[in-house]
Amino acid sequence: MATYHFNKEDQVSTLLIKNIGRLQTPVGSFPHKGEKQGENLKLDNAAILSEDGVIKAITSDGKLPCKEEDCDMVIDAEGNLVTPGLVEGHTHMIFGGYRQNEIPLKLKGAGYLDILRAGGGINDTVKKTREATFEELYDKTEGFLDEMMGLGVTTAEAKSGYGIDLENEVKLLKVLKKLNEDHPMDIVSTFMPAHVVLEDYKGKEDEFIDLCINEMMPYVKENDLAEFIDIFTEDSVFNVDQSRRYLQAAKDMGFGLKIHADEIEAIGGSKLAGEMEATSAEHLIVINDEGMASMAKGGTIAMTLPATSFYLGATFAPVRRMIDEFGVPVAMASDFNPGSCPSLNLQFVMNLGYLKYKMTPEEILTAVTINPACGINRGEKVGTIEVGKQADFVIWDAPNMEMLCYRFGSNLALQVIKKGELV
Ligand code: NIG
Ligand code: FE
Repeated sequence: MATYHFNKEDQVSTLLIKNIGRLQTPVGSFPHKGEKQGENLKLDNAAILSEDGVIKAITSDGKLPCKEEDCDMVIDAEGNLVTPGLVEGHTHMIFGGYRQNEIPLKLKGAGYLDILRAGGGINDTVKKTREATFEELYDKTEGFLDEMMGLGVTTAEAKSGYGIDLENEVKLLKVLKKLNEDHPMDIVSTFMPAHVVLEDYKGKEDEFIDLCINEMMPYVKENDLAEFIDIFTEDSVFNVDQSRRYLQAAKDMGFGLKIHADEIEAIGGSKLAGEMEATSAEHLIVINDEGMASMAKGGTIAMTLPATSFYLGATFAPVRRMIDEFGVPVAMASDFNPGSCPSLNLQFVMNLGYLKYKMTPEEILTAVTINPACGINRGEKVGTIEVGKQADFVIWDAPNMEMLCYRFGSNLALQVIKKGELV
């Protein structure tokens, strides 16, 4: 274990992390693409000083940025790897119930969309989420945030999308807002009423999109309940024309744009994302060349979700081609949700990035730090270890990124530091 001591007993203002065997971080506050995706700064025998939650100085080669006795707290990283706190760029972390009952159906051959079309899947979670109270959802989601942070995540995106009507969607967004105030995790909220077509709206999808545009989005905007908007553009859910109309209205109201695209069928979601200059397009399992070219042109970040591919038994997004041939900036996230990915472990996502996407450890670090940070509009604040950025770090039980990407199934986060304080 990394060891630490206090020089003062009151609140920690200055924190020194010393004896960092390897400090590794991307550099710069922009989305890293192409060759840049694999460029990390590596410092050996390093130390970091933070003051009031902000990075003040970084040193290497055994030098210290200050005297130990001048700091409120000193942590000895004992030669281990230190990276920026991980940024989780895509979750559906707020929901009622679970869906373990779907597994036997899956094992008998039912596909994700088969279960959805038969009224299960997201429909089922909507029912359970509507039944859950504010307090129940708060407690459950707080538990997930604790678990995520213990695994090295210090900033996370969270989508609504299991309420579907205004009252229930607002309930979810208000829980997230309160958790953002109460919990050390920085939470960025995404409004996603267009996550499923409920029975009442089957065949009347355009009416539902009108409702989102005319009633729901303005309310969420006026009450400052979410920064981003998202839509499930998919066969049997919302088509490209409906998605375009929804996203354009959201853009006009000042929301950042996200889109679940090309998860199961390539119906043109990623192409649309690029055309609309969406901040990110998510999933992209079955993306084609046209989609990748459009995203590269529109500056859209690929928020890839390999644990969902794993859990759906699907193929894996063509990430090497995104990086090498198209220069699309690649982020990786968990997609934590009760259906297609009931895991919030971003370390496992990193393992899959290594083995299934064939990314390098450097590209992987970029994909779970600065690129998702840019994907949730936090690139100026988090996602790298640089002077002036928020002091969010992880000390790993590993000497380097290679080890972190190679070992799986254990939690290798030894210490998580959020805004200059141990959590
Ligand atoms: O990203 N695809 C849509 N939404 C989630 C799944 C949600 C669920 O199955 O509950 C996803 O995979
Ligand atoms: Fe998702």
